[in-house]
Amino acid sequence: MILELVGGGVEVGVGVAVRPVGDNAGMESTHEPRLEAFSREVTSRRAPRRDIVVLGSTGSIGTQAADIVRRNPDRFRVAGLAAGGGNPALLASQALEFGAEVVAVASEARVDELRRALQAQAAPGSAGPGRARPLPKILAGPDAIAEVAAWPCDTVLNGVTGAVGLAATLAAIDAGRVLALANKESLIMGGPLVAGRAAPGQIVPVDSEHSALAQCLRGGRAAEVRRLIVTASGGPFLHRSRHELEDVTPEQALAHPTWHMGPVITVNSATLVNKGLELIEAHLLFGIGFDAIEVVVHRQSVIHSMVEFTDGSTIAQASPPDMRIPIALALAWPERVPDAAPPVDWTTPQTWTFEPLDESAFPAVGLAREVGIAGGTAPAVYNAANEVCVEAFLGGRLRFGRIIDAVAQVVSERSDSGGDAVTMADVLAADDWARIRARELTGTGKGENSP
Ligand SMILES: NC(=O)c1ccc[n+]([C@@H]2O[C@H](COP(=O)([O-])OP(=O)(O)OC[C@H]3O[C@@H](n4cnc5c(N)ncnc54)[C@H](OP(=O)(O)O)[C@@H]3O)[C@@H](O)[C@H]2O)c1
Repeated sequence: MILELVGGGVEVGVGVAVRPVGDNAGMESTHEPRLEAFSREVTSRRAPRRDIVVLGSTGSIGTQAADIVRRNPDRFRVAGLAAGGGNPALLASQALEFGAEVVAVASEARVDELRRALQAQAAPGSAGPGRARPLPKILAGPDAIAEVAAWPCDTVLNGVTGAVGLAATLAAIDAGRVLALANKESLIMGGPLVAGRAAPGQIVPVDSEHSALAQCLRGGRAAEVRRLIVTASGGPFLHRSRHELEDVTPEQALAHPTWHMGPVITVNSATLVNKGLELIEAHLLFGIGFDAIEVVVHRQSVIHSMVEFTDGSTIAQASPPDMRIPIALALAWPERVPDAAPPVDWTTPQTWTFEPLDESAFPAVGLAREVGIAGGTAPAVYNAANEVCVEAFLGGRLRFGRIIDAVAQVVSERSDSGGDAVTMADVLAADDWARIRARELTGTGKGENSP
């Protein structure tokens, strides 16, 4: 057994049946198991040292997770690592530093480079952290990441970007691991097919907003929860009109005011698509209806989200914008890792502001609400079309203002989402279709304007 809910006896990782969440599962469903999983006090019976697998270890989430592991060798041991193949030298050095048993690279073209980097860094004369270390097993190819996700361990951190993380999410869930989920795309794509496949509490959020919600939920019982309030920094273009956003450049979109993240999520933060994805993520993770989830702009990114309770109290979670706090909490869940990152400095003056989102300048959140309520394949279509548009924007082939227009058009053309009846095959087919359609609409089809 991995986790025990006090007084509840629900075991995570042994396939507890979960009833599917309706599109408007509202606050009246006070026994919603996913909400209860976070609302009760949770204790751990596990060994103090957790074996973890990090997927996307070379990225923003992955390297911050590495920092947590490096500073807490008594708490974490790295069993496996995986990445795309963009940085074989870093992947090799992480594998040797942490003594991983297995390392996977999605790009077969980069496997030789990875092998050479491992051998060079493990050589007895090497100055690197891995000298004289045994070499890990190497896996390569598009399926390798899912194989590592099912590797024996306690917790899998999925820090890969995009829909490509779906197979790994499913593999980790099916293997009974605690899934520390940064790759929100896989949850949103699969919807109840992913959320319902996991036992309540088996998926632990890494997104700072959902980590904050999970922490705030500890402050009351599920039946006492009235609303979730998800905060948004507003990204680099807050207070600009739709017109002013038309021609902003990738460089401007990548200059986030409060967070340093990978390029895709940073652009998604500029369009507010990221907040739209997070709205759907909150619905799926906590089993709460869309009518009970609000988005509010909080420029400073110190309050990461809030839960409003039935008596009028609101509990908020505050910490400086540093992902190491939610990453550490997810890896050690339900325990906290001391000094994961510095806390708020209460000796300096601070001003926190809250304001409603300008939905006409940033229609992405409203559109996400619509696709989330439609359910079925609609969220997968929204996500896939957006991934294509963001790639085209970053490649200089699409104007910023066209991103959300094109996503909206692709979504509108697939008006029948299939609702609750969809299968994983339907989701994958919808994802494929949306990518093709988005490329057609934006004139960025492979072989056309691609570099
Ligand atoms: N960064 C944040 O602060 C933050 C906050 C909340 C949520 N998230 C979520 O966390 C996820 C990762 O974001 P990020 O900012 O860390 O992205 P990132 O910096 O771009 O890193 C992405 C990672 O995924 C790997 N990868 C790419 N394609 C892959 C494939 N086909 N198979 C295996 N690995 C692959 C990359 O490997 P290579 O280096 O080899 O290409 C890299 O390690 C996203 O879902 C994002 O929305 C991020």
